[in-house]
Amino acid sequence: MEQYILAIDAGTTSARCILFDRAGQMCAVAQKELHLNYPHDGWVEQDAMEIWKTQLQVCRSAMSVHLIQPEQIVAIGITNQRETTIVWDKATGKPIAPAIVWQCRRTAEQADDLRSRGLTDMLRDKTGLVVDAYFSATKLRWILDTVPGARQRAENGELLFGTVDSWLIWNLTGGKRHVTDASNAARTMLYNIHTLQWDEDILRELDIPACMLPEVVPSSGIVAYADASMLGREIPIAGIAGDQQAALFGQACWQPGEAKNTYGTGCFLLMNTGTTSVSSSNGLLTTIAWNIGGTVEYALEGSVFVAGAAIQWLRDEVGLLEHSSESEDIARSVADTGGVYLVPAFTGLGAPYWDPYARGTLIGLTRATSRAHIVRAALESLAYQTADVLDVMQKDAGLVLQSLKADGGASANNFLMEFQADLIGVPVERPACVETTALGAACLAGLAVGCWADRDEIRRTIVPDRTFRPQMETARREELLAGWHKAVSRALGWAKT
Ligand code: G3P
Repeated sequence: MEQYILAIDAGTTSARCILFDRAGQMCAVAQKELHLNYPHDGWVEQDAMEIWKTQLQVCRSAMSVHLIQPEQIVAIGITNQRETTIVWDKATGKPIAPAIVWQCRRTAEQADDLRSRGLTDMLRDKTGLVVDAYFSATKLRWILDTVPGARQRAENGELLFGTVDSWLIWNLTGGKRHVTDASNAARTMLYNIHTLQWDEDILRELDIPACMLPEVVPSSGIVAYADASMLGREIPIAGIAGDQQAALFGQACWQPGEAKNTYGTGCFLLMNTGTTSVSSSNGLLTTIAWNIGGTVEYALEGSVFVAGAAIQWLRDEVGLLEHSSESEDIARSVADTGGVYLVPAFTGLGAPYWDPYARGTLIGLTRATSRAHIVRAALESLAYQTADVLDVMQKDAGLVLQSLKADGGASANNFLMEFQADLIGVPVERPACVETTALGAACLAGLAVGCWADRDEIRRTIVPDRTFRPQMETARREELLAGWHKAVSRALGWAKT
């Protein structure tokens, strides 16, 4: 009887479930889109109950459509959109507020306040993060401050906080386990990435009761069992990692200096720095990659908030595309963007600018600008943002990257990969399985239950697809980048009153 690992990939825009076999092959996939709500300028929310119910539904449908029995699932690996903040009632299991999504800027002023109180260095030293509304800390604080009675109830031990991994595990286990892993904890701005504990000083400064925080468990190891009522039997939950760290693992970036870029809702470039936490002087984040067997490995990260979401915006809000997949042919139908740039700062800009008040900017329009130029500019914006991050990452790490590993939905776009290689001047390598986020979670779980003896055995299952080599002349690259930086300068600070 074939055995599978069930990977839960709880992304921002979709809930997915992928079943992998021991050869690391995808054998079944089920996916369903999730709703996002934008109640005010810069606000982004989701229904936490929808996240859970949809996730359970896609897990069940991946199994049933492919006639896979519960006995064939040897482990569950979970990977998730990070930072998104959920607070729920311990007794009823009901969220007390909408999930505040990582992209949400509603707490920009609270982040300003932390900076003005002189906490920037303390927070960076302890958490490796830039003070920003992106992380869970100010979002959690916002819920405690604005939902009537929440703080008192939290102090009484009646409420629990979790990122999406915690929320799913709590539900999968029928409320028995309230846990998260170190890679997710590292994104809350409440966790000390050196002592590996929730940090008492930060909790005091932000006035957050420790009793509502989850227990931090290893990224690979059996930490809980899904209740039999969920997927048909008690299945071990044996791998947990934030989606970007999971992709780093699934791309086999296990040596210091190896880097990947995931083109998902956002774009996240992570470089493994081994057991040393490297701090950035250029606006990158220091984060925990994973904790396996008590050994913590770190990564440098450049977080770009809007990548694939810019293409979705063209499709859903502007109506320039019917399907995202059309974007490649449309972009190729013109030789260039005709001088048009799109800076998709819809929810501010992340690395390396960190400006929550930046807003989307479409610039360089002329009477000759066509739909194709705008579509091309949107695709190119993913590559420009990545180039900005890579530039500072090389400075911080003091090395020149030999190649960049790409994955995520938009990495299937050959035009984008070619343009990316041109802009950064190094080859871009794409694996055959671009679902490296789910694969990484499956590998972390599979390692824990003995599907693979070690990482070398996993490496043999990862098959390359294509390498895109740079073709563009340096002068042209510099000209394009100069235009991009001019466009970014117009987007910065736009929403600041
Ligand atoms: O930090 C946010 C990130 O985890 C979201 O990932 O895959 O939804 O773009 P994704």
